[in-house]
Amino acid sequence: MSPVEGDICTKHPFGVGMQVDDIRICVVMVGLPARGKSFIAQKVVRYLDWRDIPAKVFNVGNYRRADTPQPTADFFDTSNTEGERLRRAAAEAAVTDMLEWFHQGKGIIAVLDATNSTKDRRRWIQERCAADNVATLFVESKCDDESLIMQNVMDVKTTSPDYKGLDPEVAAKDFRDRIRKYELVYETIDEDEADMTYVKLINVASQTVINRVHDYMQSRIVYYLMNLHIKPRSIWLSRHGESMYNLEGKIGGDADLSPRGEAYARSLPSLVDQSIEPGQTLTVWTSTLRRTIQTARYLVDKHGRQLPWKALDELDSGVCDGLTYEDIEAKYPEDFKARDDDKYNYRYRGGESYRDVVVRLEPIIMELERNEDILIVTHQAILRCIYAYFMNVPQERSPWMEVPLHTVIKLTPRAYGTIEERWKADIPAVSTFRTKGSSAKHQ
Ligand code: ATP
Ligand code: F6P
Repeated sequence: MSPVEGDICTKHPFGVGMQVDDIRICVVMVGLPARGKSFIAQKVVRYLDWRDIPAKVFNVGNYRRADTPQPTADFFDTSNTEGERLRRAAAEAAVTDMLEWFHQGKGIIAVLDATNSTKDRRRWIQERCAADNVATLFVESKCDDESLIMQNVMDVKTTSPDYKGLDPEVAAKDFRDRIRKYELVYETIDEDEADMTYVKLINVASQTVINRVHDYMQSRIVYYLMNLHIKPRSIWLSRHGESMYNLEGKIGGDADLSPRGEAYARSLPSLVDQSIEPGQTLTVWTSTLRRTIQTARYLVDKHGRQLPWKALDELDSGVCDGLTYEDIEAKYPEDFKARDDDKYNYRYRGGESYRDVVVRLEPIIMELERNEDILIVTHQAILRCIYAYFMNVPQERSPWMEVPLHTVIKLTPRAYGTIEERWKADIPAVSTFRTKGSSAKHQ
C-alpha cells in the first residue's frame, strides 16, 4: 500500500496531521436509569471501531454485579451505607481499569457507562482523568417521556441479569423503584459545571445543548450523537443485479445488467414487498453507476424516485479497473499478493482501499442514522462496509464476507444489536466471491 501525499493518516482515520498519542478521551455517560446510556455507549464504540479508532465501554453495572449480582431497589438508596460503599467501589474499579487501559495504549476513547448522576461524582471522574491527561466529554441523556421510559424498562431492564429468573412485572416494579431512588439525588449538569465539556441530549436529541466542545474528535462524537434516533426502522441492502462485467469476471467498470440481472431488477419490487408491511414505502438510494440505477428502476412506481449517491459507487480499482482477477495476478503479481495479505488496507494503484471506502461512507452512515426506512442498491465492497457497521464485523473479516447477488438483506436495529433477515430471488447469478489466494474466474 502506498499512502499518497496529503492523504489522511492511514493509522488514524480522523487524524489529518493529528498525533494519535495526543488523544485520550473519556466519554462519561450521565443520566437516570433507563435513559439509553448503555445504548448510546455501545453505539459510539461500534461507530469508532468501524472507523478503526480503538474504543471500549467500561460499564460500572458490570463491576457492581461482581459483588451484588441481584440488588433490589433499596441497594440504590443513598441512606444504605453498605450499598453506597459497594457502588463507590464499583465506580473506582471501573475508573482504575479504564485509566490502566489508556496507560497500556490499548485505546484512545473510553466510555464510562454509569449514571454519574451527582456533581460530586462527575467532578471526581474529571479530576481522576485530568491527573492522567485524559480529557472528559460528559454526555447526559435527559428524558421525561414517561411512556418511553416504561417501554425501555419493559424492553431491556426486565431481561437484565439483575432480574434473572424474576417475573417481569416484579422486575419492572423494582426497576421503577430504583429510578425513584436515583431521582432523589440526581443533579442535571448545570452552570456549576460550565467549565466542563459536555453535551446534553434532551428527549432523544430533540434538543441538544453543547458546551465547550473544541476538539475535533469530540466534535465528531457529538455530531454522531446528534444524528441518533430510536424510532423503529430497518435498512434494506441489495447488490445490483448480475452485470455483463460479472459474467466476464471483470471488476469495476460501468456495465449494463445481464439478462439475468434485468430479471432480478424486475423481481425486486415483489421481493421487497415480502419484507415490508402492507402500504409501507421505502426511500431508495443507489450509486451513480448504471447497474445499480437499472436494478432499482422498477421500484419507482411504489417507492418513488431513487437518489443516486457518488459515495455509494463501487470501490475504485484504479489501474485494475476492467481486468479479471486472473489478469491482475498475471500483470501485477505483487499487488495481487499484497491485497490478499491485507485486503482492508491494500489500495489499488490509482484507486482505493476498503479503508478509503469506509472514510467516504461516513456521510452515508450519518444519513442512515438520521433517516428511517432506506433501501440501498449498491456494490459488493460498499455493501460489505455498510453491513460491517451495523453488524460489528471486524476489518480483518469484512472485505472477505460473501455477499451474494440477487439477495435482499434487511437489517433491523434493536436496543443492543441488529436483527438480520434475507430474501433470495429465484434467479441464478454468477458468484463474484473470491477466496484468499484464488484468482478463479467467477462462476
Ligand atoms: P441503566 O442506568 O439502568 O444502565 P441506561 O440509561 O443505560 O439504563 P439503556 O439500557 O441504554 O438505559 O436503555 C436502552 C433503551 O433506551 C433502548 O430501548 C433504547 O431504545 C432507549 N434509548 C436510547 N436512547 C435513548 C434516549 N436518548 N433517551 C431515552 N431512551 C433512549
Ligand atoms: O440501573 C442503573 C445502573 O446501570 C446499575 O446497573 C449500576 O450499578 C449503576 O447504574 C452504575 O452507575 P452508578 O453507580 O454510577 O449509579
